[in-house]
Amino acid sequence: MSVLRSVVTGVGGYLPETVVTNDDLSKIVDTNDEWVRERTGIRQRHRASEDQAVSDLAVEAAKKALAAAGRTAADVDLIIVATTTADLTFPATAAIVQRKLGCPVGIAFDVQAVCSGFVYALTVADGFVGRGHSKCALVIGAETMTRLMDWTDRGTCVLFGDGAGAVVVEPGEGQGTTEDRGLLGFALRCDGTKQDLLFVDGGPSTTGTVGKLRMQGNQVFKHAVVNISEAVVAAAAQAGVAVSDVDWFIPHQANERILKGVAHRLGIDEHKVIQTVGEHANTSAASIPLAWAHGMADGRIKKGDLLLIEAMGGGLTWGACVIRL
Ligand code: UT7
Repeated sequence: MSVLRSVVTGVGGYLPETVVTNDDLSKIVDTNDEWVRERTGIRQRHRASEDQAVSDLAVEAAKKALAAAGRTAADVDLIIVATTTADLTFPATAAIVQRKLGCPVGIAFDVQAVCSGFVYALTVADGFVGRGHSKCALVIGAETMTRLMDWTDRGTCVLFGDGAGAVVVEPGEGQGTTEDRGLLGFALRCDGTKQDLLFVDGGPSTTGTVGKLRMQGNQVFKHAVVNISEAVVAAAAQAGVAVSDVDWFIPHQANERILKGVAHRLGIDEHKVIQTVGEHANTSAASIPLAWAHGMADGRIKKGDLLLIEAMGGGLTWGACVIRL
């Protein structure tokens, strides 16, 4: 049976130039390199320069993904940006990215699911590409999380960084089997009753301000491993594969202990885990495509590999996708 699949044909990542180490942060809050490394695996984070908006980061990642796919801006007919740190309240960052890249008139909008944003956005793109409504989609996770930090709160400000990652998604004909290239299965979840565990305390229709990120880190931690594992199992079941079939596990990069905990619970070998949290900390919606781009650049992830991505974030939202590259 011939089926239309949403195939990832190019991946790219971008990290801003400025690096902020744990030692740098220990000069402004009561923290230290040892605590941050031991509790999170984070060694450093990147910070966007003052004149860089999140759309600028997104554009750099998108250019790399397009080049990897052998496409140009002229080919793009759909842009979805997953971000929590939009340039402006409106228009959507995706519309700004479209203009900056010089793409033709097409579909462009943002998806807001915080750290799960890229997972959500990829499944939304599948709704267009997999039904023949898009021939060349850009799915981008881009964040300037450092702009949401309360720099007096050591429990959060050491955890986040700025960056962007992008994938190009194109239609491909499959046979309806697990050998097909493309998005094979996904599971998305949200539990709005857990809002207080992780949120930003401002917004256009409440305070009229941007606000600062607030998190009960240890409570989020408790939910993470169990919730993520359930979604991964559901996504694998929908794809018709076993978790043990997965070649590469590309988790949201929030905390080394969480991603290792999920891998352990699911029986995934550590050598199959792509881990970049040490280099760029938690970049929210950008972290999965950043790690994915890293794994491709160093030659580990190859065409035809079976990939598992997962994330959890504010909402609480969480989810997972199984993709054959
Ligand atoms: O991507 C969105 C989803 N977010 C996450 O996945 C984050 C989930 N949570 C976590 O990653 C972890 O809970 C944290 C890394 C945030 C915290 O680690 P923890 O092991 O849960 O520590 P804790 O919050 O229970 O705090 C332990 C101690 C506390 O001191 P006392 O009360 O035991 O004296 C904190 O005040 O560590 C202290 N602490 C710090 N010490 C040095 C908290 N932050 C810091 C810090 N430096 N930056």
